[in-house]
Amino acid sequence: MTFLDSAALSSYIVLFAFYAFLGWLLEVAYRSYKNKRFINAGFLFGPFLPIYAAGAFFVLALDHLLQIWPWFLRFLVFAAAVTALEYLVGFFSEKLFKLKLWDYSENRFNIQGRVCLRFSLLWAALVLIFVLVIHPAVLGWTDGLDEGFLKVGAVLFAVYIATDATFSVLSLAAFRRKVAYLYTEYVNLSNVEVERLLGSIRRLREAFPDLNKYIRNSIDKSIKDRIQSLLKPIQKKIILEMQGRKPFEKEYYDLIGDICEHEEFLKLKEYFHHNSSIYHHVHDVAYLAYRISKYLKLDYRSATRGALLHDFFLYDWRNHDVPDLPREKFHGLEHPKIAVANAKRHFSLNDIEEDIIRKHMWPLTLVPPKYKESFIVSFADKYLSSKEFLNEYKKRIHLQARKITGRDQKKHPENSC
Ligand SMILES: [Fe+2]
Ligand SMILES: [Fe+2]
Repeated sequence: MTFLDSAALSSYIVLFAFYAFLGWLLEVAYRSYKNKRFINAGFLFGPFLPIYAAGAFFVLALDHLLQIWPWFLRFLVFAAAVTALEYLVGFFSEKLFKLKLWDYSENRFNIQGRVCLRFSLLWAALVLIFVLVIHPAVLGWTDGLDEGFLKVGAVLFAVYIATDATFSVLSLAAFRRKVAYLYTEYVNLSNVEVERLLGSIRRLREAFPDLNKYIRNSIDKSIKDRIQSLLKPIQKKIILEMQGRKPFEKEYYDLIGDICEHEEFLKLKEYFHHNSSIYHHVHDVAYLAYRISKYLKLDYRSATRGALLHDFFLYDWRNHDVPDLPREKFHGLEHPKIAVANAKRHFSLNDIEEDIIRKHMWPLTLVPPKYKESFIVSFADKYLSSKEFLNEYKKRIHLQARKITGRDQKKHPENSC
């Protein structure tokens, strides 16, 4: 390599480092502003985002070909080029790392969440400012630098980036392993273990906030799939067995005797829920949860008691107001917390019972349940609520149909037979 070549190479490396640093500053400023606290962007440990530098070199090469074009035509080509580049980077990061690093699916005019019109236009504007203003200014600065200084800077940066990239790739691989472990073992892990695992991958989760949402959705989906495959084959059998409930009833009432006799709990009879009272609804859910958990050899005592207390709120949810739940609060999200507080006031709860009550509205409440018993109660509640709702709906339709027919009959009495 000639002297001239090595000098040119050094200045390219220093330019690359500088643009990677500028990219990092831009990303940190944007993410920190959005999250209202400092976020270290990118997957490297150090303050560099090489993807920005690579993008900068790409648009400079492109601009070299377009120099005689008017600026608005260059803007359109840049918009198309950065859109293609962003799409490809998004596509390959999903395929190679199985991770979605950003997600525009909530923005309008997006393609598979990887690119969207707003950001493509924004990127194109930034690129135009970069090639017209920033790059000429930076070139003016680097041209004035001593060649020896450039060489030392280039070598130092090359060594540094190789080291950082090695450790970052290793940490990304560990990250992927941990996420995969979380997906499959979430149900079997304790709260502390999940917290510890999430804590160990905190930096990357913070660097890519959309990744967090992606992980949570994947955990939710894998849990739902597993629960569904677990419950489907036994669902029919359980419902059939419910018909012969007599031998189980004594044990069921022995488990919940103290709750059933409590005067505060008996007040649930006064509050409407679905097409009966909360009292009847929670008994139905508790009995179904009791039979399923017993069949699966789980902690059926906790499942039954938790289920019985899952809707322990003393107000009419259709017309609620203070003191229990202010009108502006959403009943669906708030009532599990109110039920936990009421249950704790009058009974002692174990961890499973508390988790059952707190998470029974999942996935409406974002954090998934921790115990198999909680999933069973959540399923029993949804299953029976939808059945109650359907019955009520059928009744109303029937009533309406009878009213209409009655009206028709009054209008046309000769039609009655
Ligand atoms: Fe509920
Ligand atoms: Fe319920």
